[in-house]
Amino acid sequence: MRISVVGLGYVGLVTAACLAKWGHAVRGVDTSAARVTALNAGSLPIFEPGLDELVAAGRDAGRLTFGQSIPDAVRDAEMVFIAVGTHDGNGGWQTDTMRTCLAGVVPEMPDGSVLVVRSTLPPGFVSELAPIVSRIREEVDRPPVRVLLNPEFTREGRAITDFLRPERVVIGVLDDPEEEGAARLHDLYTPAEAPILVMSGINAALAKLGANLFLATKISFANELAGICEGFGASIDDVVEAMGYDSRIGRSFLRAGVGFGGSCLPNQVSMMIRSAEGVGVEASMLRAVDKVNHGQRTRLADTLTRLLGEPLAGKRVALLGLTFKPDTDDLRDAPALEVARLLLERGVAVTATDPMATARSRVGQMFSTLRLTDSAYDAVGGADAIALLTEWPEYATLDWTAVRALARGRIVVDGRNYLSAQEVSDAGFLYVGVGRGHAVPPSETSAELPASEVAENEPRERRVGVEVTL
Ligand code: UGA
Repeated sequence: MRISVVGLGYVGLVTAACLAKWGHAVRGVDTSAARVTALNAGSLPIFEPGLDELVAAGRDAGRLTFGQSIPDAVRDAEMVFIAVGTHDGNGGWQTDTMRTCLAGVVPEMPDGSVLVVRSTLPPGFVSELAPIVSRIREEVDRPPVRVLLNPEFTREGRAITDFLRPERVVIGVLDDPEEEGAARLHDLYTPAEAPILVMSGINAALAKLGANLFLATKISFANELAGICEGFGASIDDVVEAMGYDSRIGRSFLRAGVGFGGSCLPNQVSMMIRSAEGVGVEASMLRAVDKVNHGQRTRLADTLTRLLGEPLAGKRVALLGLTFKPDTDDLRDAPALEVARLLLERGVAVTATDPMATARSRVGQMFSTLRLTDSAYDAVGGADAIALLTEWPEYATLDWTAVRALARGRIVVDGRNYLSAQEVSDAGFLYVGVGRGHAVPPSETSAELPASEVAENEPRERRVGVEVTL
């Protein structure tokens, strides 16, 4: 099939590359000249494992091309996917980009072709979409095109597998007489060997949002439960493991930590609070999800400053990991950025590192006073406390005895419950997780035990095996 994909961000580029892999002739379009030039030169504007190879294979096979001209891309397309952004970067929806995109794409589409919107839409906009498209067609005096939604359920870092082997495909019908367009899209997804659900447009839009809201709820629930565990000296790891054997519950997305970030979950929670209000629903649960999530970031910064003790000036924290999760260079709403900001505001010196060079350089542009290093070992040099904020695999294999020799203090705050508490404690650190045992006893705060002195002066039995929590 001849397919166009408009918008070459995470969603669009993955869609284009995967459809080319399935043998289709795909033309990707983006309004950014820099992005198109980079793609044509074989360089990807984003990091996604396996995407380089997939894009290169598509280009080499002549099935994947990139351009800037919408008319050139769309004129012969049997199906056009739209994957442009719909949030305003400030916790709200925006449809201006989508409207502009439709105004450029729709007049050029062949008669009877299929428009597939893959962007996550504000529910209130779903009923407007098909009328906008048909109005544009009428204005240019051309027969209608079919309009479908096809929300994506791909996770950054696993986007290719999620596209090629999805757990389900959802097709929302907006304007599609006899559902012929839906049948074509259904055929397109045959290689995915997944259940394909065809439903109304609004149901499809809310199925997508509902899935993300539920995932966000699970994480905030786990974080709240972690707080309860701390109160009773329990371990969230054991609690969740036992809960997870219940097939009604499962184990996934119950990892406690510094909370969820990224361009999807945090935005969609806050945007849906407003969308719900618009239809008279208070969304008190989503408010709680949002509150718990943002509270985790502040809480982690508070724990660090409490452990460092006054005066904060002259103290240094090393942050390990900046991206919102591993296997991506995406920093959008990354909890690490908020933690860094809070620490800097309180006068703490911050050194940070991340395996992604692109992420490091963008963080350098955001915070002029933050020091960045390429390696974790450089970052921990002279640090009074170390905080792990992204669970990059390389941090699981750190030599904590070597880290101990480089650091000035002995505090490790594990914001992802990713490290071995035993290993870290055995190296002489005070290990602080999230919901992993009792809250930090007052005697462990550096007000009484200055971090820089404790490591040197404390008897080993006092230093070893200390496992506390935020
Ligand atoms: C999310 C959804 O998982 C995808 O299904 C969806 O398609 C996508 O949004 C989207 O709407 O486009 P993504 O934003 O890539 O995917 O990231 P997730 O893997 O969902 O992780 C989000 C955040 O939650 C990360 O910061 C992660 O560290 C955090 N998280 C995840 C936890 O804190 N605990 C967990 O147990 C799981």
